[in-house]
Amino acid sequence: MLEVINATKQYGNGEARVVALNGVSLTAERGEFIAIMGPSGCGKSTLLNVIGGLERISSGEVVLEGQRIDTLDENSLVATRRGKIAYVFQQYHLLASLTAVENVMLPLVLAGALGDQHELAMDILKKVGLEKRAGHRPSQLSGGEQQRVAIARAIVNNPSLVLADEPTGNMDQKTSKEILDMFCRMNDEGQTIIMVTHDPGIARLAKRVVFLKDGQIVNGTGE
Ligand SMILES: Nc1ncnc2c1ncn2[C@@H]1O[C@H](COP(=O)(O)OP(=O)(O)OP(=O)(O)O)[C@@H](O)[C@H]1O
Ligand SMILES: [Mg+2]
Repeated sequence: MLEVINATKQYGNGEARVVALNGVSLTAERGEFIAIMGPSGCGKSTLLNVIGGLERISSGEVVLEGQRIDTLDENSLVATRRGKIAYVFQQYHLLASLTAVENVMLPLVLAGALGDQHELAMDILKKVGLEKRAGHRPSQLSGGEQQRVAIARAIVNNPSLVLADEPTGNMDQKTSKEILDMFCRMNDEGQTIIMVTHDPGIARLAKRVVFLKDGQIVNGTGE
């Protein structure tokens, strides 16, 4: 469902040039759960960003469900991404002025989804165990609860692919485990997931681990 072919990404020029991705090829089949590991600065977030279409590659190809997305113009990219790719960040990125259920509804509103958007958002909130918090704003929720709202928002319009960049980076062990259990359940139900993590314990839950080093995929531990 996803193919990254010989992707490179450079930032800056001359002295300031940084090669964040140096020829990365990665294939993800439908239903996979891939963990991306590697030292700080090796290009993990950059890889996730180019898959998600948040950043452009310098060369190579990104193919999502048979369609090249790296060559799309900005508008087509946004339209293609919407509903197909969802993102979960370390810093939840919820909108502070909206309640939990309104945050979850947002992708449905943006996509002009048919049906009862509020009801659908409530169903998903129930799935992440937060129906009783539906009317709370992010500032009234714990970190783990906010991340569960962010996950609910990510999956509400049934994306083909969920990208997560250290989604449990800020959490204590217990909360982190709740969030990971949730990703595992989503994957059991067929959701394709690519997750960046520093934690080998977390990576063990994934079906496949990819190690990056200096912008390249390496075999073994990458150490
Ligand atoms: N906008 C940018 N401009 C210039 N260089 C950048 C930019 N974004 C990232 N980089 C550089 O690209 C390299 C890869 O960064 P990236 O954020 O992908 O690393 P990472 O593996 O996610 O690291 P971490 O584990 O610390 O999050 C780093 O050397 C970083 O400094
Ligand atoms: Mg990163």
